[in-house]
Amino acid sequence: MVNLFGAVGSRLAAMWLSMLSFTAASQHLAQIRRSLAELEASAQELFEAGRLADHLPALGQALEAAERHLTAETSAEGQELFFMVRVLRGTIHQQAAGLDDLAVEDLNAFTLSNPRFWDEYYAGVSGNGQFDWYGTWDTEILWPHGRTTLGSVIRPWLRREDSILMLGCGRSDMSEQMYREGFKNITNADISATLLDSLRQRLAPEMPGMPLGPGSSQS
Ligand SMILES: C[S@@+](CC[C@H](N)C(=O)[O-])C[C@H]1O[C@@H](n2cnc3c(N)ncnc32)[C@H](O)[C@@H]1O
Repeated sequence: MVNLFGAVGSRLAAMWLSMLSFTAASQHLAQIRRSLAELEASAQELFEAGRLADHLPALGQALEAAERHLTAETSAEGQELFFMVRVLRGTIHQQAAGLDDLAVEDLNAFTLSNPRFWDEYYAGVSGNGQFDWYGTWDTEILWPHGRTTLGSVIRPWLRREDSILMLGCGRSDMSEQMYREGFKNITNADISATLLDSLRQRLAPEMPGMPLGPGSSQS
């Protein structure tokens, strides 16, 4: 039988140490990112083993320390990480203690399903420019027959007159690129009103016909 507590516990201890003793080295954000990924994987293992609640205080403490450290970060990457830590802390609390999104917010943390998280995220990350999480129309991808673009894979499945819903459009320019290629009937929807406001400013001059849908897909 695997000694999950021992294996995960010692890994967590090492990670807390590394997260609590951030260096001033130029790679420190990459180091925090790696520590977070490991911490997330360990928390997932603990959750599956029903042991997450036992480690909640220590995990919360490590993540709060990371947040305090990242508050001073002005780079885009530092700000992204700050939001990631806040969501990770909120999600761990939610899973360990069965909290709803509002109770998580009382801990000054967030879950990804909370619209206020996305509003703060889009208000907080620097600039209103374009940014893709998952890739956009002209993103190069590796397909079974070699390199191609995401658009080339999707194009055969679409007709120009189709009604297209871009759900959770974010700051990606996928819709803009498709619009320029002739897919004029695209509705952008996102849970964040803040994001939709900035998108309106970005799209209105060039693509007045592109609708921005209601803010949320939540029931
Ligand atoms: C990971 S980002 C992806 C953004 C964009 N599609 C991209 O590839 O860059 C997820 C987006 O979904 C939005 N979102 C989250 N939950 C949503 C919901 N229930 N309904 C609509 N949009 C939602 C967020 O505000 C965010 O912009």
